[in-house]
Amino acid sequence: MKLCKKVKVVDVRPFGQPMTAGPEFFELRLENPGWDEWKPGQFVMLRPTSFGLEHVWARPFSIAMCDKQELTLFIQRVGRGTAHIAALEPGDHVLVWGPLGTSFVQEPDTHTLLLAGGVGIAPFKGYAILHPKRDNLRLVFAHRASARCYPYEQLADAVKAERVQEEKPEHLARVITLLHERISQYADGLVLACGPAPFLTTVRKYALEYGARCQLSLENRMACGVGACLGCVTPGVDGENRRVCVEGPVFWAQDIALGGGK
Ligand SMILES: Cc1cc2nc3c(=O)[nH]c(=O)nc-3n(C[C@H](O)[C@H](O)[C@H](O)COP(=O)(O)OP(=O)(O)OC[C@H]3O[C@@H](n4cnc5c(N)ncnc54)[C@H](O)[C@@H]3O)c2cc1C
Ligand code: FES
Repeated sequence: MKLCKKVKVVDVRPFGQPMTAGPEFFELRLENPGWDEWKPGQFVMLRPTSFGLEHVWARPFSIAMCDKQELTLFIQRVGRGTAHIAALEPGDHVLVWGPLGTSFVQEPDTHTLLLAGGVGIAPFKGYAILHPKRDNLRLVFAHRASARCYPYEQLADAVKAERVQEEKPEHLARVITLLHERISQYADGLVLACGPAPFLTTVRKYALEYGARCQLSLENRMACGVGACLGCVTPGVDGENRRVCVEGPVFWAQDIALGGGK
């Protein structure tokens, strides 16, 4: 059962250049909420007790790592909720419930391509750490902000990795070219991706084109996180809606219709 637990903030560690209004990119370390089992790709709903009546809903975040002592999340400040979370201090309390949703498959002997867009890199930290044959993993990281803003170096120490930065709109073509080239090399392997919707739409297109087995982790907006509100649905190829919080966030690429296509 996914119980809601109140845990303490251990640390908020800024990545890259801290901004005056709090870090834009940061690692949030929390006490382990008492979990002894979780899988990379799953997520947690988080609500600081200090949200009060100002922010009603908890916010969903991928589990970057969880060991006996600590649960680690990697967060980008994009709006009011994440700004509030960025301002938390050690000892503050947050409510968390999880681990929620589906996870990425792990096939130790299969060559596996990890494709991360921006903060979509978060679940691959735990995926790489817990994989029994890291030599079979390769990471491609596409990002807009400086690479120092993300846990890229930590991952590049663990697995073969390369990155491509999209500083201006005209750099998008090189991101797409690299995704295309790498996915074409994994037609008989496994492709796992997490990132914003346009990134996942591109990955899905090439994965289907090359017949690569591919899973996508969606970052739809969520309210309840447990299947009750239907606020997070995404269409399946069969025309039926899927609740991303319970049937996802990780889906097989051929099962969901991203970008309006089949
Ligand atoms: C399963 C899942 C895992 C996620 N994992 C992470 C993670 O590891 N790290 C991380 O930083 N974020 C992650 N997100 C996204 C994160 O939940 C949102 O960025 C956050 O809820 C925004 O809250 P806010 O109050 O700051 O933004 P709001 O004030 O609600 O919105 C501010 C801006 O952010 C945009 N936004 C809101 N929600 C999302 C979203 N889900 N995806 C993209 N843009 C959004 C809004 O459109 C708006 O432009 C994940 C989302 C899901 C569903
Ligand atoms: S967030 Fe409520 S059903 Fe998914």
